[in-house]
Amino acid sequence: MAGSVSTEWTISGTGISVRNRTVLAAMTNKQSEEDGTLSDAEINWLHGRAEGGFGIITTAASHVHPSGKSWEGEMGVWGDHQIPRLKELASGIRERGALSLVQIFHGGLRAPRTLTGEQPVSASSNYEKGVEEECRGLSDSEIHELAASFGEAAERCEKAGFDGIEVHGAHGYLICQFLGTRTNRREDRWGGDLRGRSLFLREVLREIRSRTSESFLVCVRISPEHDVGVTMSESLELSTMMVDWDVDMIHISCWDAFTGAQGEPDDSRTITRRFREELGEEVPLISTGSVWDGSDAQFVIDEGADLVGVARVAIAHSHWASEIEGDGFAPERPPFTPEHLINQGLSPTFVDYMRRWKGFVTDGRISQK
Ligand SMILES: Cc1cc2nc3c(=O)[nH]c(=O)nc-3n(C[C@H](O)[C@H](O)[C@H](O)COP(=O)(O)O)c2cc1C
Repeated sequence: MAGSVSTEWTISGTGISVRNRTVLAAMTNKQSEEDGTLSDAEINWLHGRAEGGFGIITTAASHVHPSGKSWEGEMGVWGDHQIPRLKELASGIRERGALSLVQIFHGGLRAPRTLTGEQPVSASSNYEKGVEEECRGLSDSEIHELAASFGEAAERCEKAGFDGIEVHGAHGYLICQFLGTRTNRREDRWGGDLRGRSLFLREVLREIRSRTSESFLVCVRISPEHDVGVTMSESLELSTMMVDWDVDMIHISCWDAFTGAQGEPDDSRTITRRFREELGEEVPLISTGSVWDGSDAQFVIDEGADLVGVARVAIAHSHWASEIEGDGFAPERPPFTPEHLINQGLSPTFVDYMRRWKGFVTDGRISQK
């Protein structure tokens, strides 16, 4: 239905064209400086993927406020001191022919005091597995302030020359914590039914739109299902709500784009197909999860995605997006040697981080997920 993964496409409703249907999905790589500014290594890695033919390059998750930092080496977009290096990144991506998005987020209950110097915050007070301490629920005025931080961060990204931002509403971070019934038990207007639990996201989007120009791309990434209390049926409903909130693209983080929703085993349709059916043909949809070769990518497009995101395969194959255009490209699968990854433009810091992903590096964690 949707055409070939390697052909140019105009993002519906925007007039902005992208050279093919591939997206480098956001990937944390721990290479930023202590104050959130980009390092040479992080800029080189992303320029390398733009060189390698991707249509859209997304940065690593980047915190919009110092209180939202979730790990060491995290990219930040919370201060003007970060703009000069952001400019270098954005201009280099553009020169290499790709569009650029900064993924903006706040870690919420997953932003530990050891990094931020303060008690973590979230929709409600929660004590999740794996975190250092119980977080506290945000006050009404703090919620407004944090939403404004997203807007200010987006403004900074536009000033630096990016084509847009991706609001990270997935994977259990602050926006996802607001969306989830388990982590958001508020009884005020920021909680309750889906409309209430998504009000923070809506406010974030309103702040972004009020501070950026009309042509600035605004994408939202969500987890269709998440154990914070996000379900497939509510995510479908949320996606139709977002269409009215002036969102340019919706990105679903499926982890496995070849299966159906885990919480609804009787429905064998892929998650991508279900979103497409719910949204109709016009809403730009990115889908990501376990794509390895060109036929995988084409499958996701044929299921109804307009753009297909990849992460792990692009770490190991810098020119994946160009190479899938040719016949017979069969990208090697993990584990990869550290030397191979260094040759693909990763720094030793990034290689070391990848050792924690099971089965990815020959001398890293051994078993597959
Ligand atoms: C090293 C690494 C870092 C990641 N960091 C982020 C991130 O910062 N933000 C995000 O939304 N997803 C992140 N992800 C998830 C990916 O964007 C992607 O959704 C996931 O890896 C599934 O795609 P894949 O099968 O092509 O790897 C990360 C994945 C990897 C492998």
